[in-house]
Amino acid sequence: MIKFICLGFFFLLVGTDLAGAQFPRACCTVEGIQTKQCCPAIGSDPGNICGSLTGRGSCVPVRVDTKPWGGPYSLRNVDDRERWPTKFFNQTCRCNGNFAGFDCGRCKFGWTGPNCDQRKAPVVRRDIHTLSPAALLDFLDILDLAKNTVHPDYMIATQHWLGLLGPNGTEPQFNNISIYDFFVWQHYYSVRDTLLGPGRPFKAIDFSHKGPAFITWHRYHLLGLERDLQRLSGNENFAIPYWNFATGRNECDVCRDDMFGARDPANPSLISRQSRFSRWGIVCNSLDDYNRLVTLCNAMETSNSSLPTMSDVRSCLGIRDFDSPPYFTNSSASFRNALEGYEKPDGELDETVTNLHNLVHSMLNGTSALSHSAANDPIFVVLHAFTDAIFDEWMRRFVPSNSTFPDEMAPIGHNRDYNMVPFFPPITNEEIYVTSEQLGYSYAIVLEADSGSPVIVLGSTLGGVFIGLLVLLLILVLYMRQRRNTGFEPLIKADFTNRKYTEEA
Ligand SMILES: *[C@@H]1O[C@H](CO)[C@@H](O)[C@H](O)[C@H]1NC(C)=O
Ligand SMILES: *[C@@H]1O[C@H](CO)[C@@H](O)[C@H](O)[C@H]1NC(C)=O
Ligand SMILES: *[C@@H]1O[C@H](CO)[C@@H](O)[C@H](O)[C@H]1NC(C)=O
Ligand SMILES: *[C@@H]1O[C@H](CO)[C@@H](O)[C@H](O)[C@H]1NC(C)=O
Ligand SMILES: *[C@@H]1O[C@H](CO)[C@@H](O)[C@H](O)[C@H]1NC(C)=O
Ligand SMILES: *[C@@H]1O[C@H](CO)[C@@H](O)[C@H](O)[C@H]1NC(C)=O
Ligand SMILES: *[C@@H]1O[C@H](CO)[C@@H](O)[C@H](O)[C@H]1NC(C)=O
Repeated sequence: MIKFICLGFFFLLVGTDLAGAQFPRACCTVEGIQTKQCCPAIGSDPGNICGSLTGRGSCVPVRVDTKPWGGPYSLRNVDDRERWPTKFFNQTCRCNGNFAGFDCGRCKFGWTGPNCDQRKAPVVRRDIHTLSPAALLDFLDILDLAKNTVHPDYMIATQHWLGLLGPNGTEPQFNNISIYDFFVWQHYYSVRDTLLGPGRPFKAIDFSHKGPAFITWHRYHLLGLERDLQRLSGNENFAIPYWNFATGRNECDVCRDDMFGARDPANPSLISRQSRFSRWGIVCNSLDDYNRLVTLCNAMETSNSSLPTMSDVRSCLGIRDFDSPPYFTNSSASFRNALEGYEKPDGELDETVTNLHNLVHSMLNGTSALSHSAANDPIFVVLHAFTDAIFDEWMRRFVPSNSTFPDEMAPIGHNRDYNMVPFFPPITNEEIYVTSEQLGYSYAIVLEADSGSPVIVLGSTLGGVFIGLLVLLLILVLYMRQRRNTGFEPLIKADFTNRKYTEEA
């Protein structure tokens, strides 16, 4: 379904070479750009950079991954995302202990208190279908507010990194952006082509898909939005819901006007006008993409598939290896590749397959189906929350060590120690390759249930706890039985085929 009215586009950028990026407002100054230093002070004392006077952190050179990468991007030093973020800033705050943020003024995910030394009770991400009407409304309201509120901390660059100070060298070329559009922007920035020159894009590059970082990147992306929404709502326990898309059905059960919007009966390529999201504009940052979107907006829809099933989810949860060489779309027996959807859910490589995450995106049609613009559609949030819940279950099941995440020869951006593009301050894939509890959230979901749908653990009331325990017991029994009967397939045969990966548009 096309989720947005195409007339709602607006440009944030002007010019032809539009490789912008996004950074803290405090660093978007002439001095910041010239010195390549982004180490803001906390409070009124300008000497308190990175909170150094209170031991929060210090201003240090950025560390970048130096291991070789594989994958199709074989150029060197022509993309501003190589050695991220050093084309823009080469000194940033490194925070001590549990302090975090671009100025070390915040706590790491999962910690709280003035000194960031108290564990925060995990916020609980729930099935969107189990939210009370009031909680659902709160969620949609906060999304709307985020779409219309200027991001308090970050701005986006509107010019190539070499022209960031404008023609006179005195005017930083940055714009404000709303909190939700910032989220969209990050996704766009991570997937956009390398601009080799006017009309010469290099397309085989993607910092957030088609490789191991697919998992960690999207997890961090959601965490950032969730934290921004917590601040915006003043509710630090706010959690984004997830959408269990594994219904096996051929329609989308959250595409209703009281959720993310139904189809417009008069024009099925548009979202219903009864939905608040029909008033959302799409942001994108180049004429190319605008053209691509217009084409898409006017295109007839051709997708004719059904959503994944819980059996697909359970199959991919049986794959023990996080990823496998070449850590790309043609990896087989790779949990990541199965979940991302380039191989069958059981890990067998088949170039014609579109499953799980990819299948859901393509099922949704329209804006959701193009990676560079997908995050414009708020379904993105709940779809990726469920994808992350599957990863979280996989982590709990296999308790992987860091070394299961490749540290070299993954495509650019996907090595374990690469700073995920375009997050700022820098954060590596490895830092996010941990359980959700360590990052301060959890899922109210049990994915091991041997039934058609996941069982939600009921919490809060005593009765709920009791029922929850009974359900858990039942699951345990069923699980043991399933284990005895079929066992988990430990490793799927790793046969590499020499089939070519066909680059999609
Ligand atoms: C950072 O960039 C500045 C400005 O280009 C340069 O003078 C400085 O040597 C660089 N520092 C490091 C640590 O790379
Ligand atoms: C550059 O400086 C000139 C002279 O001060 C001024 O007229 C012009 O508007 C400036 N251009 C920009 C883009 O700031
Ligand atoms: C961006 O927003 C901030 C705070 O709302 C405001 O102070 C600033 O002038 C704005 N900057 C631009 C370039 O619009
Ligand atoms: C689309 O789905 C319908 C119903 O499931 C089926 O009859 C039809 O053959 C499918 N068409 C294509 C092109 O796959
Ligand atoms: C996507 O388009 C196809 C074909 O028009 C349609 O059958 C399907 O229901 C659409 N998906 C959604 C979620 O509307
Ligand atoms: C694994 O990664 C985490 C997060 O970066 C780190 O704290 C831990 O020391 C790493 N463990 C090993 C064995 O490298
Ligand atoms: C995977 O795809 C890449 C890019 O097309 C290709 O270079 C590589 O040979 C393929 N590897 C395997 C094992 O199929």
